[in-house]
Amino acid sequence: MDLFEEVKGSRTQFREEYSEIELEKKAIENLRIKYLGKNGIINTYFNKFDQIPPEKKKEFGQLMNSFKQEVQNSVADLKEKLKSDQSSSKFFDPTLPGKSPREGSIHPLSQTMEHILTIFREIGFSVELGPEVETDYYNFQALNFPENHPARDAQDTFFIDNDTLLRTHTSPIQVRTMENQKPPIRILAPGRTFRNEAIDASHYCTFHQIEGLYINDKVTFSELKTTLFLFVKKFFGEEEELRFRPSYFPFTEPSAEVDISCFKCGGSGCDLCKGSGWLEILGCGMVDPNVLSASDIDPEEYSGYAFGIGIERLTMLKYGIGDIRLLYNSDKRFLKQFKNI
Ligand code: DAH
Repeated sequence: MDLFEEVKGSRTQFREEYSEIELEKKAIENLRIKYLGKNGIINTYFNKFDQIPPEKKKEFGQLMNSFKQEVQNSVADLKEKLKSDQSSSKFFDPTLPGKSPREGSIHPLSQTMEHILTIFREIGFSVELGPEVETDYYNFQALNFPENHPARDAQDTFFIDNDTLLRTHTSPIQVRTMENQKPPIRILAPGRTFRNEAIDASHYCTFHQIEGLYINDKVTFSELKTTLFLFVKKFFGEEEELRFRPSYFPFTEPSAEVDISCFKCGGSGCDLCKGSGWLEILGCGMVDPNVLSASDIDPEEYSGYAFGIGIERLTMLKYGIGDIRLLYNSDKRFLKQFKNI
């Protein structure tokens, strides 16, 4: 970003902090040090003066001086206000409206996660968790990814050593649960996942998924469809249509990807759905018999379905967020918009 823009951004940030500051000595001093201190934001910019081309130096100097002036004046005002506040505080006025505390907000990813868990809890799913550092066995082998199989490449794994890795999906929790519980099993497994991807507007090195797993005798694909229909209606709204597209995952057979009709254009085609009228929301399928056997569940006796939902993707679709990085850089201006939704 160009330095002028950065300075303007810092100035907006300052104004925000100024308007929200608690009238209290420590907070004012912290604000002063942050902006005016020796290693403060303003000096940091002044130190970058030599990066500015000569014909722009004057304009940059003016911008910085007026920024500095504004901060100095604002800090002085705050100190003044604090003083008069303290001297008038002897005269307590019980009729004054109270100060409302500064409220945080729940991160949009947590809101999506919680919303999904609530929908599935209502139909009897319980929650299971698993470790973020996994073994090759749980992340791949037990899920029917044969060694050296190209499907492993698609997962861009961060390896810790030959056998240990950061989980690339929440599917290993399926295996861990099947090892520890007897059918019927009906669980949801939320968690953070990691992939060594080039970061851009739609890819990040970490993201979240929710895994679903249902194992019982004679579970059918139509039960999977009914469950996902219910989920989509509750999460996105009654009008959305669903489409199952055949796909491939090593741990399910048959496998499908699920699309919903684009809620922005109603299916006629727009920038959000890239003209197709459909938005991909999750992967699913019937648990492969090899996966059941690997966890000592007899595939002759039991069957089941599984699905994996990408939390970032759903959150971005639902709220029209165009860049995944916004979900990770803790910018209060962005996060504030998710209060009380
Ligand atoms: N683990 C898959 C992924 O990360 C997502 C997924 C697809 C999970 C299909 C499932 C499933 O349980 O049945 O790409």
